[in-house]
Amino acid sequence: MKKVLIAMVCICLAGTTVLAQKKRLFNETPVQKQQRMQWWEDARFGMFIHWGLYALPARHEWVKNRERITTEQYQKYFDLFNPDLFEPKKWAKEAKAAGMKYAVLTTKHHEGFCLFDSKYTDYKATNTPAKRDLVREFVDAFRAEGIKIGFYYSLIDWHHPDFTIDRVHPQRLDENAPEAEWEKINKGRDMTKYREYLFNQVTELLTNYGKIDILWLDFSYPGKHGKGKDDWNSVALIKQIRKLQPGIIVDNRLDLGDYEDGEDFETPEQVKPTTLVKYRGKTWETCQTFSGSWGYYRDEHSWKSDKQLLDLLITSTANGGNLILNVGPTARGEFDYRATRALDSLALWMHGNNRSIYNCTYAPDEFSEPDGARLTYNPQTKRLYVHLFDYPYSRQLVLKGYGGKISYAQLLNDASELRTIDNSAIDSAATGSDIILSLPADRPPVEVPVIELILK
Ligand code: GLC
Repeated sequence: MKKVLIAMVCICLAGTTVLAQKKRLFNETPVQKQQRMQWWEDARFGMFIHWGLYALPARHEWVKNRERITTEQYQKYFDLFNPDLFEPKKWAKEAKAAGMKYAVLTTKHHEGFCLFDSKYTDYKATNTPAKRDLVREFVDAFRAEGIKIGFYYSLIDWHHPDFTIDRVHPQRLDENAPEAEWEKINKGRDMTKYREYLFNQVTELLTNYGKIDILWLDFSYPGKHGKGKDDWNSVALIKQIRKLQPGIIVDNRLDLGDYEDGEDFETPEQVKPTTLVKYRGKTWETCQTFSGSWGYYRDEHSWKSDKQLLDLLITSTANGGNLILNVGPTARGEFDYRATRALDSLALWMHGNNRSIYNCTYAPDEFSEPDGARLTYNPQTKRLYVHLFDYPYSRQLVLKGYGGKISYAQLLNDASELRTIDNSAIDSAATGSDIILSLPADRPPVEVPVIELILK
């Protein structure tokens, strides 16, 4: 009995401690936060761009880690980096056509190479045959298309001499190596100096390129031979970030989960669409690749189909979140032909159907999802969107219990009216009755046809 009591007290104490631990770093009100996040939540769709020296080996952006390549061996990619076909205006046009409202570029990935002209390193694009600040060109081109600007910046750095060797470093030791060995290989490496470098570079990025809309920091892996908030000095870093760019939106990979306001959005990575339902009610963006790798990977064959990509986009919106879809440009500076083809197909679909994505979220509970379909909803216009993943063979769509709630139905891609199977007036259907829509025998010429229901 005594034991049980003690246990209960401990649980209570633990409970209070957990609650009390959710400290705040800033005094932004919920309304202010909502205003800061609004454009991003309305946008729903962004482009990720992973581009760096790893485009040359063309076998994953983690190649230096995976193959345990030393910085000396990696140098050849730096010496040869010459993206002679780089035309950021073309990238921006492709992103815009696909309906992407923001773009996040890797200014530095884990390999440590900087696409921008940093004062604090020589390991940057300006010193390669590219000879210029590629971040600046990206910013100018995307801003000119009205696309919001995001910077990805890797907290990890496999090139910096002061970044200590840890369990994800290319020069890591085997799991069972004695501690003394770790100490030995890290002798002379000083994280204090690395932190200074990290702060300086983030400051450069948030000072020299005008308004930056998103900062995507990547990533923390606390624990044995890992790194987390104390290694990055995350609390001071986020304060510095918000001071330099008060309106900026920051991801959740700084390891600041103990704070109420240490992050703006969650980042479920490469998850299946069916798992996204559990993020409802949170603020989130799922990051996804076309093919499995983020950096250009020539021999990657598992490219997602057009329908799978639409599934990700529609299911993200249908669960109240964003999708950021990644392109890994080649070392010549172009989008891979497979990525361009996929973007073109998204562009075609978005052209006629983006109304079911922008400003949309999940449908009110009273609307059940028809078989083989997914719902999104625009709360401002009060329109409900039915995405037909399976076009019914019967050419009939049963909207269970929708009677009395709908005033008009049309196909979204061409605004052509949809009638009920007996041509009865949709707006006079009895409350709570089923409405059976008659669909055209010719399936609309889009990958996933969308029905727009105007609610009463
Ligand atoms: C991961 C990987 C990385 C990629 C990122 C995108 O954390 O380390 O290569 O940049 O996720 O979400």
